[in-house]
Amino acid sequence: MTILSPHRGSLQGTCRVPGDKSISHRAVLLAPVSGGACRITGWLRSADTLRSLEAVRALGAEIHEDGQVLSVQPGRFPLKDPLTIDCGNSGTTARLLCGLAAGLNCDLTLDGDASLRGRPMARVVDPLREAGADITYTAYEGRLPLRIKGRTLHGGTFRLAQASAQVKSALLLAGLNANGATRIAGCGASRDHTEILLRATGARIQSAPHSGGHVQLLKGARLQPFSLQVPGDPSSAAFPVAAALMLPGSRITLPEICANPTRAGFFQVIEAMGAGLQYGDIGISGGEPVATVTVSAGPLQPFAIDGARVPTLIDELPVLCVLAARADGTSRLRGAAELRVKESDRIAGVAAGLRKLGVTVEEYPDGLDIVGQSHWGSGNAIARIETLGDHRLAMAFAVASLVSDGQTELDDTTCVDVSFPGFFQTLDSLKG
Ligand code: S3P
Repeated sequence: MTILSPHRGSLQGTCRVPGDKSISHRAVLLAPVSGGACRITGWLRSADTLRSLEAVRALGAEIHEDGQVLSVQPGRFPLKDPLTIDCGNSGTTARLLCGLAAGLNCDLTLDGDASLRGRPMARVVDPLREAGADITYTAYEGRLPLRIKGRTLHGGTFRLAQASAQVKSALLLAGLNANGATRIAGCGASRDHTEILLRATGARIQSAPHSGGHVQLLKGARLQPFSLQVPGDPSSAAFPVAAALMLPGSRITLPEICANPTRAGFFQVIEAMGAGLQYGDIGISGGEPVATVTVSAGPLQPFAIDGARVPTLIDELPVLCVLAARADGTSRLRGAAELRVKESDRIAGVAAGLRKLGVTVEEYPDGLDIVGQSHWGSGNAIARIETLGDHRLAMAFAVASLVSDGQTELDDTTCVDVSFPGFFQTLDSLKG
């Protein structure tokens, strides 16, 4: 339990946010099958990404960490003995590994914590089975734990039911060991870090993220080892940025943030809400666009977010809802039912937390209406908010606590280590 007090000043200065979580997972999962030693700099060392690292270590990869540099030597397949891998809270580990292992010579059982055991796996398992994978649920249909008996797959053409980068990535990783092409007809563009990394390793991949998310991976390319600098995570950057936007007079700079257009929704929305944004040092790192972002506070207008934009800011929605609660009018979020199957039901979690702060919120199956107001809090009483063990809810309400009229109690903040170790220290460093 953590009790947080409001901050009466502004935020100023420069802060680095940790490496991108999605890219860090992909780099460490792909390195062992890339045919040589890989070097990853700026890798995010968090509770979530360590699950992927421990998984590939269990699969035989040799990993050395030297300060900021992670070196990964290939795994040794086939593995003789059946293995169980605990994916903890990490949906990305579970889903991407499911795809990767389906085509390798291994016998792997994947499990996870209570949150992950409650999350849908059929969206990954069904198309993988279509590609020839041997996967069985060992307890409940559609949920972890599940057992994968790896074998040669045959690829295929898949139409995804969700614009999910995890499902797309699982199919592409499975496609690396298929004896046919893998074609994915998206139902919208989702983050394309797997495609970028696969292209860099020499895979024969064609993709058009802005034409509905179609991707094609041809069979038979020999992957090359890679060297990668992981840029800062825009989803983590969203928390100090939102804090700065709510505290008048704030101006903060975040260097080397991943500026991939498939992840840019948060920055587009806050600009439309009235944030002052400046981009500098624009470049490319490891195939990913990067930029230094400077943000200054200004009066906030409400947002209207719907359908196609949602995948570009899915993980930033909890903190965007906190920002909406400070805007001058009613914000409307729809087409975001996916939020209900994240690390927690984030629609319910956001609504409950904002109501504890006295904010008027209407909940819908696929979103929220949030009425912005200039004062929050429970007066002299402490606002007690449940984070549901969800890192993004914990950070969103820690940001909210900065502008509350009174103190805020969060039942669990250790979960911030899932994606942003050092989150509270980073915020404090900007308080001056
Ligand atoms: C991720 C994709 C998104 C996102 C998650 C990370 C990834 O999930 O919410 O935090 O790294 O591929 P979905 O693919 O389920 O939309």
